[in-house]
Amino acid sequence: MDCPLYEKIANQIEQQVQDGVFLPGAKIPSVRKSSKQMEVSVATVLQAYSVLEDRGVIKARPQKGYFVQENQMKTSIASSIEPTKNDESVHTLLQRLLHSSQDEGLVSFSSAVPKSQYLPIRQLQRSVGRLMRLEPEVCVSYEFTPGSLALRRQIAIRMLDSGCQLQPDEITITLGCQNALMLSLQAVTQPGDTIAIESPAYYGVLQAVEALQLKAIEIPCSTSEGLDLEVLDKAASQWDIKACVVTPNNQNPTGSSLKPAQRLRLIRQSVEHHFTLIEDDVYGELSYQDKRERALKADDQDNTVIYCSSFSKSIAPGFRIGWLVGGRFQGQIEHNAYAQSLAIPTLTQTAIANFLENGAYDRHLRKTRQAYQDNLRRCQQVIQAHFPVGTEVSDPKGGFLLWVTLPPKVNAMKLHAQALEAGIGLLPGLVFSFTAQFHHHFRLNYALNWDNKIDSALRELGKLSQSQIHH
Ligand SMILES: Cc1ncc(COP(=O)(O)O)c(C=O)c1O
Repeated sequence: MDCPLYEKIANQIEQQVQDGVFLPGAKIPSVRKSSKQMEVSVATVLQAYSVLEDRGVIKARPQKGYFVQENQMKTSIASSIEPTKNDESVHTLLQRLLHSSQDEGLVSFSSAVPKSQYLPIRQLQRSVGRLMRLEPEVCVSYEFTPGSLALRRQIAIRMLDSGCQLQPDEITITLGCQNALMLSLQAVTQPGDTIAIESPAYYGVLQAVEALQLKAIEIPCSTSEGLDLEVLDKAASQWDIKACVVTPNNQNPTGSSLKPAQRLRLIRQSVEHHFTLIEDDVYGELSYQDKRERALKADDQDNTVIYCSSFSKSIAPGFRIGWLVGGRFQGQIEHNAYAQSLAIPTLTQTAIANFLENGAYDRHLRKTRQAYQDNLRRCQQVIQAHFPVGTEVSDPKGGFLLWVTLPPKVNAMKLHAQALEAGIGLLPGLVFSFTAQFHHHFRLNYALNWDNKIDSALRELGKLSQSQIHH
């Protein structure tokens, strides 16, 4: 049965509050104005506002009007274990935000790409030049899926460090990690299926969910513990989950890593509840510890894990070289990859294979990890000194992304707009979830050339956040 008009209006306004159209504490249109805007009677609007008051969404202030309650933005865990409807496009919002933060003149913290000084550009330049000079025919010909054997051999060697003993034949080269994630999801789901994702999640996963017409259950992921396995267990008992996309190492955006016991528990859950684990390990090699963590794939006795990664965060994002270990889905995945793109760029695969063969990669990794740790400490110090009281900042043990939780009064979308005016780019929390969460959060890339400009841009962000609180 259709709900009454006043309830529809109340639902619409509540949605606008959740979407951040009306911020906590903001005045909403007067009864008379809403009645005109919506072409309904004053009595209907009054009834709608009274419903919203009962729901605790708004509050009337005598002589002043109606205001959004201050504590609106807190979302309960219960609401995040429902599959989402996906009727709003994260893709559109993201395009807008990322494009606006990519102006040359900006000091930008927004993308998850290291500044070029942290990429081995000179070595790659030499290698690509030599290949084109000495083996031009090889470089311009097709390298069909599953990709270069020389590269797959090098990857198999590197994956020993994460506890995985693999034959080169078990590895499929992909067009970056995003392509690996898409191929994995395509192999294990149909449109309309439900999957579990981290919340907040890397927005590329949200885009994949939208593109493949899936439903997503958002499982809370904290900066200290990573994915909440209690909630995942509950969700998997309640819903028919086909897959769970998880980043056990240095998650984007929270920076969290799963503890060893939790990794084993997660694998057990996937067996018990019959879902596939899609392991995104794109930041695995950027761990600050001497020894990197074991991949989930290393303890995958029942073949329920698909492992995905790439060289985008450590060698060259524009080369578009990633890989996956598809296990029992490998045949299906390679079939799809072949049908979609036939081949993987030969030149960039060969250049990376050469770079890995000659030992320069490990030296490069050691240097960048140290630089990221130094930058992380600097960032944390500036934030502690210049951001509002109550600001929390993550403490990643690898990678180069920081997750900042501001006091609830600060709106990160507004901060993003203010920062752009001041010549600074950042990525607000809203793009990391379908469920209109993370209004007072933002992500910050610290793989930057640390100089006075960066330092003062961070201080400025602190000042802008303070000004929202005191406004
Ligand atoms: C967690 C995560 N997975 C996957 C990707 C995509 O990587 P690629 O550029 O190799 O497609 C990114 C890039 O930001 C990421 O942060």
